[in-house]
Amino acid sequence: MEVRIESTPHDVAILAADFIEFALRVERPTIGLATGETPLATYAELIDRHRRRGLRFDHATYVLLDEYVGIGEDHPASYRRHIREVFTDLVGVPTNAVHGPRGEAQDLEHAAEAYEQLLADLPPRAIQILGIGRGGHIGFNEPTSSLGSRTRIKTLHSTTRADNQRFFPDGEPVPLHALTMGIGTIMEAGKLLLLATGETKADVIEAAIEGPITATVPASALQLHPSATFVIDQAAASSLKHHDYYREIVMNRPVWQRP
Ligand code: F6R
Repeated sequence: MEVRIESTPHDVAILAADFIEFALRVERPTIGLATGETPLATYAELIDRHRRRGLRFDHATYVLLDEYVGIGEDHPASYRRHIREVFTDLVGVPTNAVHGPRGEAQDLEHAAEAYEQLLADLPPRAIQILGIGRGGHIGFNEPTSSLGSRTRIKTLHSTTRADNQRFFPDGEPVPLHALTMGIGTIMEAGKLLLLATGETKADVIEAAIEGPITATVPASALQLHPSATFVIDQAAASSLKHHDYYREIVMNRPVWQRP
């Protein structure tokens, strides 16, 4: 596990974009994307690279972590719609190369199985981008989610629903349920890149990196992954006990270890 502490959210975005650019080098990669606010600056940086120097994205397939139950692409809070608006449509990715769990399906169990099958049929995920909820969720795997879980329906925690209310039109409640890749599903990506910025994430980042591996902090499962990197800003790193050591590791990185 690697912890990269960057000065500002902008620096987090630059480094995260470097990791994604690196993953795009293979012939037909699958790239796992996260939604929410944190990765927006990373997507803006990638769009800028596309416009400035023609970085290409159209050879890859993109998969999302989750979707609200009952919400289809016609809804403004739909994650599939959101990722197209803030990223994939702006870098020349065709709509049919962007996939997410189908939260609008009548048969949610079947939709979850179909998403697992799709992930199994695609080329292996080169990288999976993750955010982290205040309670430690990754995807919508709320505290006490099984560390071996697969794509399925989850009940959203009240703090998650409160935090995400801002993405919904006035007066419309956040759904109670979501379809989400499981923690076991997330862990199958070749590389995990968890992004966090701001002081509100400091305590949960400390728990995920330096606390025990536990289902009550789902992001602590990254400690078990052979190639997991946390890219966080100073504010999100402010509760870490081994802060100085993480910096020493980065300063003394072997040249072959890039980005
Ligand atoms: C989004 C997702 C969530 C978010 C998390 C952090 O696809 O799966 O786990 O990454 O809730 O959200 P922000 O970045 O808005 O703080």
